[in-house]
Amino acid sequence: MEANVVNPMPRIGDNAPSFTAVTTQGVINFPGDYQGKWKILFSHPADFTPVCTSEFMTFASMADDFEALNCQLVGLSVDGLYSHIAWLRTIKDKIEYKGMKNVEVKFPLIEDISMNVAKLYGMIQPGESQTSAVRAVFFIDPKDKIRTIMYYPLSLGRNFDEIKRVLIGLQTNDNFGVALPADWCPGDEVIVPPAGSCGVAKSRMDGEEAEMKCYDWFFCTKNISKEEVESRLGK
Ligand code: BEZ
Repeated sequence: MEANVVNPMPRIGDNAPSFTAVTTQGVINFPGDYQGKWKILFSHPADFTPVCTSEFMTFASMADDFEALNCQLVGLSVDGLYSHIAWLRTIKDKIEYKGMKNVEVKFPLIEDISMNVAKLYGMIQPGESQTSAVRAVFFIDPKDKIRTIMYYPLSLGRNFDEIKRVLIGLQTNDNFGVALPADWCPGDEVIVPPAGSCGVAKSRMDGEEAEMKCYDWFFCTKNISKEEVESRLGK
């Protein structure tokens, strides 16, 4: 798809817009190169800035966790390739931050001087900045559907434990046909949705009533152990 100013912003449930881009790991076709994987496409405002540096060091340090969850990370800013390369080298060679050092960013970082990809994904939000992307995070499932979108302003770094929790939550939604309550983490009780609700495949019609705890007729939960959740993640 060609990006231009009249592109509507992608929404949850939409197919991820496709594009070809130059990255620090070569040319990629997104999302086509990552068939069968979860994808997190995220933007940052600018290379060589402090909040972005802290974010990249944190995300890159957690890269093995996302790999184990069958998730490809792809970053983007409206900087050029040589800026990206110089910034990532500086991070690796010079920055020690919160116990992280020698941090190598192995996932692709898209150069987007044209802003084509940033516009395609609604990452340019002119009220915040006309010239750089906001901190956007798109969670895209193995069928290339957008499942969650987060936006943060320029001045506030993201919580990467929350990004990992959301990915695990989406995979748990899909694998167990359950909804997840506030602050859910693996091992916490899950919500058994009434038939036909919440867009999940399974429901209370599946004969699971015996295992359920009901707070009221519309609010029933059951237990799924942390081990059981973890055994099905990454699918
Ligand atoms: C930062 O990453 O530190 C930053 C980037 C753009 C505007 C403000 C802060």
